[in-house]
Amino acid sequence: MTTETQAVVLITGASSGIGLAAAQLFAQRGWRVAATMRNPSDGAQLAAQAGVTVLAMDVTDPASVNAAVAATLEKFGRIDALVNNAGYGLFGPFETATDEQIRRQFATNVDGIFATTRAVLPAMRKQGSGAIVNVASIGGLVTLPFFSLYHATKYAVVGFTESLSFELAPLGIRAKCIAPGGVATDFAGRSLVRTFGDGGNAYSDTLNKVTAAISERRAGYSSPESIAEVIYRAATDDTGQVMYAAGQDAEQIFHLRQSLPEAERLAVTRQRSGL
Ligand SMILES: NC(=O)c1ccc[n+]([C@@H]2O[C@H](COP(=O)([O-])OP(=O)(O)OC[C@H]3O[C@@H](n4cnc5c(N)ncnc54)[C@H](OP(=O)(O)O)[C@@H]3O)[C@@H](O)[C@H]2O)c1
Repeated sequence: MTTETQAVVLITGASSGIGLAAAQLFAQRGWRVAATMRNPSDGAQLAAQAGVTVLAMDVTDPASVNAAVAATLEKFGRIDALVNNAGYGLFGPFETATDEQIRRQFATNVDGIFATTRAVLPAMRKQGSGAIVNVASIGGLVTLPFFSLYHATKYAVVGFTESLSFELAPLGIRAKCIAPGGVATDFAGRSLVRTFGDGGNAYSDTLNKVTAAISERRAGYSSPESIAEVIYRAATDDTGQVMYAAGQDAEQIFHLRQSLPEAERLAVTRQRSGL
């Protein structure tokens, strides 16, 4: 890692929520920030912050990923940290999700991370240093009902990151995984796509209970700024730690997952889901 005043971070999905908070925090700490987003016009305010450059990137479009990474390297000459934050959730019965919804969910949450990671690795290898910080979710370690496809993507991110951490460590590159619990962003609004369709009626009773239970918990959500702090720590702590539970709820759930036998853990999930 270079000194903090020269360090460069590239962040995906920096238009809002956790990605925006992370971009602001890295910039405040003296980093040069390539804040990438699908519509750079969404980043007009962020672009006014010292050290921030807003670039276009849709993580599902390899050409735009490569162009944004190339532009970052051309401007700053290096990339010390990649924060893979862009993502959204599918919610609803698995049975009624369309092929296209499933494809897009994986294209964004999983393939997008593969594309950005592959694009930055040659530069990080040359530097002999770097951090790849993947924003998964506590939902990459435990599940809730009706998020099966979202969980499938986040479990993929957790497995990918942990395995990658072993092969990149000898090259001086650290792979890290952030597992936030509930975060007070607009994820449940703008970033939640519903799979309800024909045949969904069979699930409506369970779905209503789960929706009510989830809504009740919103009050305890973490701020995006507090998750950004965990991302910053992961990018800079120079330890071999791979998994970072982020937020009080995530820390509790992480602990339960480590300590409870499966039957008890699933009973806790049913109880927390109103089932
Ligand atoms: N909020 C939570 O409770 C929570 C909990 C655990 C994990 N997470 C994870 O945290 C990450 C950020 O979510 P958030 O809560 O901050 O929600 P958010 O405010 O809705 O942010 C989602 C971001 O992802 C971007 N995005 C979506 N598809 C994209 C694509 N194809 N290419 C580039 N960017 C794309 C969005 O960009 P646009 O502005 O272009 O739509 C937006 O910037 C996600 O990976 C999410 O799974 C969130």
